[in-house]
Amino acid sequence: MTHLRARAVDLDATDPLRAFVDRFVPAPGVQAYLDGNSLGRPVAVTAERLAGFTREDWGTRLIRSWDEGWMEIPFELGDRIAALTLGAAAGQTLVADSTTVLLYKLLDAAAGARADRTEIAIEATNFPTDRFVAQAVAERHGMTLRWLEADPVHGPGLDEIDRGVGAQTAVVVLSHVDYRSGAIADLPAITARVQASGALMLWDLCHSAGAVPVGLDAAGVDLAVGCTYKYLNGGPGSPAFGYVAARHQDVLRQPIEGWMGAGDVFAMSRDFEPATGMRRFLSGTPPVLGMLAMADMLDLIEQAGLDEIRAKSVSLTSFVVEAADELLPEARLLSPRDASWRGGHVTLGHPGFEAIVPALWGEGVIPDFRYPDGIRLGLSPLSTTYAEALDGVQAIRGALAERPRG
Ligand SMILES: Cc1ncc(COP(=O)(O)O)c(C=O)c1O
Repeated sequence: MTHLRARAVDLDATDPLRAFVDRFVPAPGVQAYLDGNSLGRPVAVTAERLAGFTREDWGTRLIRSWDEGWMEIPFELGDRIAALTLGAAAGQTLVADSTTVLLYKLLDAAAGARADRTEIAIEATNFPTDRFVAQAVAERHGMTLRWLEADPVHGPGLDEIDRGVGAQTAVVVLSHVDYRSGAIADLPAITARVQASGALMLWDLCHSAGAVPVGLDAAGVDLAVGCTYKYLNGGPGSPAFGYVAARHQDVLRQPIEGWMGAGDVFAMSRDFEPATGMRRFLSGTPPVLGMLAMADMLDLIEQAGLDEIRAKSVSLTSFVVEAADELLPEARLLSPRDASWRGGHVTLGHPGFEAIVPALWGEGVIPDFRYPDGIRLGLSPLSTTYAEALDGVQAIRGALAERPRG
């Protein structure tokens, strides 16, 4: 046994969260699932929750279920996500729409609240949906986009804010954890600097929620959005969450004002009168089916504790960096080496990676590829073992060695 294998065995044996791995649906034929940062694995009890829901809540209670709880699910689930993963008090988070749509709604509302300003600032390599939505919202409000250039490995910091944000800025959109490098942005410091200029701060928490503690209230963040199918294991296309700090809720107006966001949903009044609180950020009928699975993951997060989850995440990514240093010496580390600034995934770069990913998937080793030459190794703390992570790095090494050279 190599020393890395012995370390993996030892780390798994002493992992205080090891038992959680068995709480997920087994995936026969999958040797290493390293894409939980894109689509989390289903929790085993979710199958029974979905069947029970179909039989009882939907099948038997039928439309009565709207009055018996469904109307409140977006807010109850939002509060749970907020308490367990976002560091936010109740009444500021809802679950609705997709990240893209909710981002549009909140960003548009923020731009409207700073209509006397002329720019929306966004990091130039932020996730495509964030950039596209920011472009659309800027256009709608007659504003221009200010691209903030940041280091590709370490992400944006205060220097970039100082260079690009000022009295002209209406709102700044950044990702807390970068989708490529996994770099963690200094959310409290950046939020404070942005707000000092009078702009609003909107964070994308897609790669944070459930893996990296956020502390929204403590940092005084204005707005945030994130998805629930990564580390919250809500399943493919599960709806997003959105956070609006209590102080802004009755001021902001979001652009898709539908009946579910009205003050009196069933009044069927002629004119739209927004509800108070978070309800005004709803638009149409909540996607109740899509909200079921994440509740089981939230149960696991509650049992494990987010600080323990983060501790295992740091340990897992550190182990992968160590294994990659040794087994893949020609690959470039495209994530921060300092674990305190690294989220839940590790990205490596090598010109041979694009060619080997299909073969890896074929043999049940599942990382993902990000153009131009990055492999992302997503390590989901409750479902990933150290042995599995090492299997992944070893398989990449084997596939690189075997690939045909042109
Ligand atoms: C940073 C970031 N923002 C947004 C999204 C996706 O948005 P949506 O849920 O609308 O597909 C992703 C998806 O991977 C993402 O990584």
